[in-house]
Amino acid sequence: MGSTPKMKVLDCLAPLFIACLAILGCTQAVTLEVKEGNSTCIKAELSALLFITYTTFNSTSNVSTSLPDSTSVDAASSSCGAAGRPPWLVAVFGSGHALGLSFAKNGSFYSVTNLTLQYNLSDTLLFPQSNGSGVVTVVSSSVGIWAPINTTYRCASPTTIRAGGAAVTFSAMRLEAYMPGNDLSPAESVCAADQTTTTAPPTPTTTVAPAPTPPGTPATGVFSVTNSSGTVCLLAKMGLQLNVSYVSQAQNKTVQELVNVNPNLTVTSGSCGSTTASLVLTQQTTTLNFTFSMNSITSQYHLSGINLLANWSDMTAPFSASNTSLDYLRSTLGRSYMCNTEQTLLVVPAFSLNTFRLQVQPFGVTASQFAAAEECQLDQDQMLIPIIVGAALAGLVLIILVAYLIGRKRSHAGYQTI
Ligand SMILES: *[C@@H]1O[C@H](CO)[C@@H](O)[C@H](O)[C@H]1NC(C)=O
Ligand SMILES: *[C@@H]1O[C@H](CO)[C@@H](O)[C@H](O)[C@H]1NC(C)=O
Ligand SMILES: *[C@@H]1O[C@H](CO)[C@@H](O)[C@H](O)[C@H]1NC(C)=O
Ligand SMILES: *[C@@H]1O[C@H](CO)[C@@H](O)[C@H](O)[C@H]1NC(C)=O
Ligand SMILES: *[C@@H]1O[C@H](CO)[C@@H](O)[C@H](O)[C@H]1NC(C)=O
Ligand SMILES: *[C@@H]1O[C@H](CO)[C@@H](O)[C@H](O)[C@H]1NC(C)=O
Ligand SMILES: *[C@@H]1O[C@H](CO)[C@@H](O)[C@H](O)[C@H]1NC(C)=O
Ligand SMILES: *[C@@H]1O[C@H](CO)[C@@H](O)[C@H](O)[C@H]1NC(C)=O
Ligand SMILES: *[C@@H]1O[C@H](CO)[C@@H](O)[C@H](O)[C@H]1NC(C)=O
Ligand SMILES: *[C@@H]1O[C@H](CO)[C@@H](O)[C@H](O)[C@H]1NC(C)=O
Ligand SMILES: *[C@@H]1O[C@H](CO)[C@@H](O)[C@H](O)[C@H]1NC(C)=O
Ligand SMILES: *[C@@H]1O[C@H](CO)[C@@H](O)[C@H](O)[C@H]1NC(C)=O
Repeated sequence: MGSTPKMKVLDCLAPLFIACLAILGCTQAVTLEVKEGNSTCIKAELSALLFITYTTFNSTSNVSTSLPDSTSVDAASSSCGAAGRPPWLVAVFGSGHALGLSFAKNGSFYSVTNLTLQYNLSDTLLFPQSNGSGVVTVVSSSVGIWAPINTTYRCASPTTIRAGGAAVTFSAMRLEAYMPGNDLSPAESVCAADQTTTTAPPTPTTTVAPAPTPPGTPATGVFSVTNSSGTVCLLAKMGLQLNVSYVSQAQNKTVQELVNVNPNLTVTSGSCGSTTASLVLTQQTTTLNFTFSMNSITSQYHLSGINLLANWSDMTAPFSASNTSLDYLRSTLGRSYMCNTEQTLLVVPAFSLNTFRLQVQPFGVTASQFAAAEECQLDQDQMLIPIIVGAALAGLVLIILVAYLIGRKRSHAGYQTI
């Protein structure tokens, strides 16, 4: 190997704090530092959630993991930018996994030029049943993290960067390269996402019960499941809101909470079969599982089961609810099911699911597209209102027109007799 610059890299500090990202659970924050001599050149405090798609023996799977507390800086690969190498922060974790950020600067700004993720498919704990092995490296060169020199880049909002079959979602991030001192510069450059949201940055708090603010309408997400040959076999587009009653630790009583599923933080998995199909959405400590069943005699399918597992920080015990004898979202093979109107799917007394702008097709998807939709009764009723109003208006116009024509004919006739 060539001569590496003499460098001492401080290992990752112990877990600093737990930053709660959203209502749905927490990810760990890590602090990473690259040093040369006694001076720090790159420092990052961040939480990162990794989503990785990989092939298993009979299907594809998705795994989601957060950057663990034990993540540390790899001294040999990291660099402060000596000897013509760009500044590079390489964090290693688990069994041969790594996340790297390389930096560049021009006169007034520094930026992350590329993000590199290495994952070791031989780690069967993280990648159960993987049919591949060894280390996979994926790179993204469009990261979009930049700030003026001598300022700290700050972004509390989740930011997702895709690279190959993986995605990295950073949140609660503070970062600086080309540092003038050993600490993050007090001057901060706030990312665009934070400037547009009015929500306060997530600060670790030890206060009691979060105020139950209504979460508003959930964002619409597009979720798909692929089969072993890599083609999309299940498609869903919907906004989801969980309505859960559980015993609150902080309040020592049963509370009822509405929580929106954030598609940006959701990992999708599932399976497709000829008579059953499943869609599994995982968001940190929440797992929502849909089971669809097909009646091969009538060629009709429906949503037959919903299962929710949640382990939110305020829960006295993990929440689990399941009902496998449901009959929702009924449609026909070769069609998708659509319901734009809000629908409430009652699962058990303590848990119901509100759906918004929903379209699903669990069977017979071709070319990654929804087939023609069968629309729910609620939508048809909604559609009926404008039709009735329109028909009434048209009728009124017709009556006025006829009255006018009759009136005109009368007055015309009147003139002729004179
Ligand atoms: C680093 O700091 C230590 C003590 O704080 C000092 O003894 C040492 O000389 C410094 N090294 C460099 C390269 O500045
Ligand atoms: C994949 O195969 C394994 C063993 O061969 C089996 O246990 C597992 O259930 C299969 N998974 C699916 C989704 O078919
Ligand atoms: C990948 O994981 C396997 C199993 O945990 C381990 O034996 C191997 O050393 C790892 N590879 C690297 C490059 O760390
Ligand atoms: C990403 O950055 C690293 C470090 O600067 C460099 O070695 C690597 O070639 C870059 N990859 C791409 C695809 O630009
Ligand atoms: C410097 O980099 C920033 C961010 O990458 C870019 O917006 C800006 O235009 C660059 N300025 C010059 C002078 O190249
Ligand atoms: C993994 O499985 C897929 C689909 O069965 C196959 O195309 C691919 O070649 C397999 N990869 C390895 C490394 O065996
Ligand atoms: C950044 O700060 C250092 C030390 O305070 C100073 O020497 C340098 O000129 C500053 N750079 C810019 C672009 O402001
Ligand atoms: C949530 O569930 C409770 C009890 O089942 C119900 O009273 C309430 O109206 C539901 N809220 C929404 C917004 O669906
Ligand atoms: C919770 O409430 C129950 C009765 O509602 C009471 O017996 C129990 O002591 C309370 N626990 C705490 C920790 O306040
Ligand atoms: C999801 O990400 C997109 C683009 O990154 C952003 O516009 C949107 O507001 C995010 N949605 C939520 C609910 O965070
Ligand atoms: C639920 O979360 C708590 C605290 O984060 C953890 O100690 C516990 O193991 C989790 N339980 C399950 C079943 O995951
Ligand atoms: C499951 O759903 C069915 C149909 O909606 C309902 O009749 C039944 O009571 C539910 N089961 C439980 C345990 O709530």
